[in-house]
Amino acid sequence: MLEDIKAAQDGSFLLLHGCAHNPTGIDPTPEQWSKIADVIEEKNHIPFFDVAYQGFASGSLDEDASSVRTFVDRGLELFVAQSYSKNLGLYSERIGAINVVCSSPDAATRVKSQLKRIARPMYSNPPVHGARIVANVVGDPSLFDEWKQEMELMAGRIKNVRQRLFDNLSDKDKSGKDWSFILTQIGMFSYTGLNNAQSNNMTNKWHVYMTKDGRISLAGLSLAKCEYLAEAIIDSFYNVI
Ligand SMILES: Cc1ncc(COP(=O)(O)O)c(C=O)c1O
Repeated sequence: MLEDIKAAQDGSFLLLHGCAHNPTGIDPTPEQWSKIADVIEEKNHIPFFDVAYQGFASGSLDEDASSVRTFVDRGLELFVAQSYSKNLGLYSERIGAINVVCSSPDAATRVKSQLKRIARPMYSNPPVHGARIVANVVGDPSLFDEWKQEMELMAGRIKNVRQRLFDNLSDKDKSGKDWSFILTQIGMFSYTGLNNAQSNNMTNKWHVYMTKDGRISLAGLSLAKCEYLAEAIIDSFYNVI
C-alpha cells in the first residue's frame, strides 16, 4: 500500500477507509497510519476518508476517529465523508456529512463555495428529516450518551459473534488451521478466505447467502447460528476447490 501511495502522482486524492475497512475488515494499526500519513505528507496527496462505521469497529466514536485525527493533528488538509446509515440505523434516510479540514479560513471559504456549486445543480437541497434526527441525538447530551452506549453494545455483540465463530471453526477443524484472522478483523465484515466456487457451495448447499468474494456480514449473524455457519465454512473450504 505504501509503495502504491508513493507511486501515485504528487497531489493525488487518496480514498481511505477511516475504520472497519469494507470488505476486508482489516485496518491499519496506529503505527501504520502514521507511516501512511508520512508518505501522504511527503507526496502532497489529499486524503479523502470514507467513514461509514464510526463507533462500530471498537465501540468508541473517539477510538474509531483516531486515524482521521492522526492526519488532522499533523496539520494536513483532508476530506471526511461520514455516513450515519449504520451507526444510527438510518439506512433509508440517506444521511451523512462531508467535513473538509482546510489550512486557512480563506481556503475554507473557497472550498465551501465549490461544494455549494456542486450540490446546487445536482440535488439542490438534501432531504432534511434524517439530518434532524442526527442533530437531535448529537445535540442532546443524554441522547448522545445513550447512542454511545448502544453503539458499544452493538460493537460488543459483533465481537462476541466473532469469538463464537472462531471457537466453532477451531473445534470443528481437525487440520489445525489457524482461524484467528476472524478475531483480528474489525467491524461488521469478515473475509472468510472462501473463493467463488466455495461461496457458491455455501449458498447452494447450505443456504448461506454471501458475496462471491468470500465476505460475510457478522452483523447479520446470531450466536445461535455460528455453529451451523462454521460447519458450512469447513465443508466448503475443504471439499470444494
Ligand atoms: C466504506 C463505505 N462507505 C459508504 C457506504 C455507504 O454509506 P451510505 O449508506 O451513507 O451511502 C458503505 C456501505 O454501505 C461503506 O461500506
